[in-house]
Amino acid sequence: MAPLTRGRAGKHGIPTELMAQYYQQRASAGLIIAEATAISKDGRGWLNSPGLYNDEQQAGWKLVAEAVHQAKGRIFVQLWHMGAAVHPDFIDDEAPVSSSNVTLTGQLPTPKGRDRAMAEPKPLTQEGIQQQVQNFVQASRRAIDAGLDGVEIHAANGFLIDQFTRDSTNKRSDKYGGSIENRLRFMMEVIQAVCAEIGADKVGIRLSPTNSVWQVSDSQYKETFSQAVTQLNTFNLAYLHLLEPKPNSGHGMETIDYITPLLREKYTGLLIANGGYDQDSAQLALNNKLANAISFGLPFIANPDLVERFQQAHDLSAPNPELFYTAGAEGYVDYSAAETKEIS
Ligand SMILES: Cc1cc2nc3c(=O)[nH]c(=O)nc-3n(C[C@H](O)[C@H](O)[C@H](O)COP(=O)(O)O)c2cc1C
Repeated sequence: MAPLTRGRAGKHGIPTELMAQYYQQRASAGLIIAEATAISKDGRGWLNSPGLYNDEQQAGWKLVAEAVHQAKGRIFVQLWHMGAAVHPDFIDDEAPVSSSNVTLTGQLPTPKGRDRAMAEPKPLTQEGIQQQVQNFVQASRRAIDAGLDGVEIHAANGFLIDQFTRDSTNKRSDKYGGSIENRLRFMMEVIQAVCAEIGADKVGIRLSPTNSVWQVSDSQYKETFSQAVTQLNTFNLAYLHLLEPKPNSGHGMETIDYITPLLREKYTGLLIANGGYDQDSAQLALNNKLANAISFGLPFIANPDLVERFQQAHDLSAPNPELFYTAGAEGYVDYSAAETKEIS
């Protein structure tokens, strides 16, 4: 199950019994990767999204971990800092942080309005970068202490790590900008430090080499992400999770090319592919050795028993997009499992 932001963690980002129920319903997924979760207050810019930087949030995640384990599931949590995508409304009207002072293109709802345009971020100092590395480490430690099985470092979709990786946002001239190696330095420092804290077998990473959320993009994306996965090889991570909608999947996510096959060649570890798959195309991708596993996002929203539905060739239910990010149980835990078919 791919990470899905659902905005049910309330004003203070504390996972609830309702969230525990939602994840427990989906425990037959081989691995749940829980929704993007902030590593620090200054990285949290999505209404009612969870955090993992204080004791109350950690206790909330413990509820989730216990519920999933009780149902014999496994669960990682995705850790993010939204960087320049954090609107000042969330952080006492301060400017958000990023690699450089490039303002992102786009709007998000905040406590003060529905479509709030992004503000100009301030570049992190080198001390600020080290502080963010430590924030990833501490959130990872809290994840393990809460009983979660591991963490996925969110280095995709134009958020903080991606704002360092790609050259449309990274304009730095110090050792964190310029060459590909320098732009990857923050990502690698985070991975190195988190692996040292909780063990590489509990750490995954997510990249989205060819989308351009917030118009964060890279002029040399093939070289940049080839180099990224080559460097990631050295860590022996639990997995690399690539979000790259396959061609003609009708996904509606903008892509400039399709480089999962190239990255598969370069990456020596376990690779999870994602983006626009159904059961047949996922099986084909596995048969063709494009990936070791396929993750599903949208299909899990309305089909908590997605695995059983695949096994039984059962029709899938469609989710209601208007309820993706709303508070409460509706459109969240009220999608039921399919009736079990008689197998003759
Ligand atoms: C409601 C919603 C929330 C999402 N939240 C996240 C998220 O928190 N982190 C992330 O990396 N991707 C997120 N995504 C992207 C999904 O993980 C996934 O990559 C995307 O839906 C494509 O896969 P699919 O075709 O199987 O749905 C989200 C997508 C949707 C529709």
